[in-house]
Amino acid sequence: MILALLLLAPVTFHKDVEPVLQKQCQPCHRPGEIATMPLLTYTQARPWAKAMREAVLLKKMPPWGAAEGGPFANDSRLTPREIEIIESWAKAGAPEGLKRDAPAPVQWTPGWNIGTPDSVIEMAEPFDVPATGSVDYQFVILPLGLSGDRWVSAAEIRPGARDAVHHIVAYLREPGSEWLKEAPRGKAFRAHGVTRNDILSIYTPGQQPFIAPAGMAKLIRAGSELVLQFHYTPNGTAVRDRTRVGLRFAGETPQKRIHTLQLGTTEFVIPPQEANHRVSVSGTLPNDSLLLSLFPHMHLRGKAFEYEIVAEGGRVETLLRVAPYRFNWQMNYILATPRLLKKGTRLRCTAWYDNSANNPWNPDPSQEVRYGEQSWEEMMIGFFDVAVDVGVDKPAFFVR
Ligand code: HEC
Repeated sequence: MILALLLLAPVTFHKDVEPVLQKQCQPCHRPGEIATMPLLTYTQARPWAKAMREAVLLKKMPPWGAAEGGPFANDSRLTPREIEIIESWAKAGAPEGLKRDAPAPVQWTPGWNIGTPDSVIEMAEPFDVPATGSVDYQFVILPLGLSGDRWVSAAEIRPGARDAVHHIVAYLREPGSEWLKEAPRGKAFRAHGVTRNDILSIYTPGQQPFIAPAGMAKLIRAGSELVLQFHYTPNGTAVRDRTRVGLRFAGETPQKRIHTLQLGTTEFVIPPQEANHRVSVSGTLPNDSLLLSLFPHMHLRGKAFEYEIVAEGGRVETLLRVAPYRFNWQMNYILATPRLLKKGTRLRCTAWYDNSANNPWNPDPSQEVRYGEQSWEEMMIGFFDVAVDVGVDKPAFFVR
């Protein structure tokens, strides 16, 4: 009887829904973040009750793509109870309830999600994104102004014109590197090609900033420059972008150094109308490392992506399977517990593409599709972060 009464107690916004929104929705649904409508107050949330119910029942919100693998530290899926709360609330006509039942509001600091940065690097000149058309990848090289080597424990890229930014990759260019040696400094320019330079951080919608686990960090060498690669996507309104990058430095030398590695290929051809084209690449780790996170990258025809460990004798273990893959939600899947990958471990990445007319995002099913930077071309990259001993830089890691 008591149980029945509890179940019948009406679900209200302040008592039941607000705590769920604080934890699961407000990280994106607040001013300055990627979702256009804030869900901070009853007045803001009320008109979205039905849409929220639908979005959580269909598992469209919060966005999450991992179907296998993990457990992941940033798993954002709602519990059945949380889904039920939103569902019952919307069904009951979205009652507000009593203000005194509300949880303490979260003190969201506007701007940075990594805390106050120790250093902020801003584009020296803004970039004008046109209202229409396509924009080639733009590169901007900015000085980091570091006189000594620094360990970075967190990095966040904040686009100025978020709606027109598809992605930004922040590379590190060490002094003496041949890459983009002759390019202008401070000004946007066009460039192509793949680089092996280290990645500091990647911005995509839905992506959390780079925050290293305790005792780990990325190293920036004295005199390094920041190379930002922008993919702007015009969205009907001309806008001006001035992106900033915030860094937090580790107080002391960490125990482990983090590298972003990648397994992928540019050698593939996806036939027209093909609904399930598979591309697979494997590689052997040259040294011991601790696997921290996985970040698959494909474009609009991307359908599913898998990371596996292939053991001697062919036994296969799935580290992550993202299905269905959504181009609009490029995410980093952070392992709840870092995983030791012994020297000689064989990793395999497999991508599936849907180039048929049944793929609602397919720009043109009649095209044969190859590697390329623009969204109507394709990519196949499995990024992953590993931690190694502090003294091991990337070249040293690849020496067997
Ligand atoms: C990782 C960021 C992120 C999180 C977390 C998130 N949202 Fe969203 N949500 C978005 C973005 C981006 C959109 C796209 C709409 C826009 O901004 O124009 C969106 C759209 C929506 C929509 C519009 C309808 C639709 O389905 O497209 C609803 C409703 C919604 N979110 C509800 C929620 C709820 C409820 C939660 C928490 C349980 C949540 N969202 C968590 C980013 C997020």
